[in-house]
Amino acid sequence: MNSLRIFVTREIFPEALALLSPHAEVEVWPGEYPPSPQELRAKSAGVHGLLTNVMDRLDGELLHAAPGLKAISQLSVGLDNVDLTEATRRGIAVGNTPGVLAKATADLGFGLLLDAARRISRGDRWLRAGNWRLAYHPMHWLGAEVHEATLGIIGMGQIGLEMAKRAMGFDMRILYHSRTRRLDLESRYGMEFAERDALLAGADFVSLHLPLTPETRHYIGHDELRSMKSTAVLINMARGPVVDPQALYTALKEGWIQAAGLDVTDPEPISPDDPLLTLENLVISPHIGSASVNSRRATCLMAARNLAAGIQGKRMEHCGNPDVYDVLGI
Ligand code: DGY
Repeated sequence: MNSLRIFVTREIFPEALALLSPHAEVEVWPGEYPPSPQELRAKSAGVHGLLTNVMDRLDGELLHAAPGLKAISQLSVGLDNVDLTEATRRGIAVGNTPGVLAKATADLGFGLLLDAARRISRGDRWLRAGNWRLAYHPMHWLGAEVHEATLGIIGMGQIGLEMAKRAMGFDMRILYHSRTRRLDLESRYGMEFAERDALLAGADFVSLHLPLTPETRHYIGHDELRSMKSTAVLINMARGPVVDPQALYTALKEGWIQAAGLDVTDPEPISPDDPLLTLENLVISPHIGSASVNSRRATCLMAARNLAAGIQGKRMEHCGNPDVYDVLGI
């Protein structure tokens, strides 16, 4: 019988659970709905490892109430829902899953870009509502040109790069802004570094791929939206709070920009009464960037490997708080 215990906050691929079971007793939260914050805290109190996702809140209070916790492993790249400073202080390793979901996330990002530009979801709603009574009209449904337009990517990590590669197939000019300038990518792919303001003013499409930190909260707000082209389309594949939702609502309603596509919202889940949902020039998906079969399977397997290592006091394949290794002396 295993002396270590793990709590998994949602059902995951059985192959991933099979990687965990030799190392610990594993309990999986059943059903469609996630555990409430109270339920998650109660479960965390008695385990050594947690396998979580972006919707679970792992704050200082939860960590305090889980004295046996050695490792958290999350099915995501972003770890903004975890109090990493507190986890490190307590010697809790926190794993994440870069790489395995970048391509799937960029696929969806480019899908939202095409949809927002060419009004695919909007046309679908209109047609299903029985509005297609007129014959084809040459002046109706005119969307934005995607091919040969300028794409501005903010955040040139793995997902940003995959987005750029997709844009190349559409002969787009690619501007990027990132903390680190990537001369290697500039010479290899012909993309151009731009300061943020120049990118916002010059791009036909602005696509966000940066982590949520205190500095990037409302990175795109009133002034930034005002500075974009009135024909521009904004895509957010990062985290909801990177964009100020009230400013976005005004920008879309008053035509400061043409359209937006979001895979992330603030808050999540978004309320059905949120004013953003009244806008026709906005397409939203429910944070499903990484939700393709292969990507999710690979993510679950990586998260399971991270957790198996973490609960045994070993280094994880991908750790979001590597300073914890100094605390743990490994
Ligand atoms: C990530 O990897 O951070 C994604 O948002 C999770 O789907």
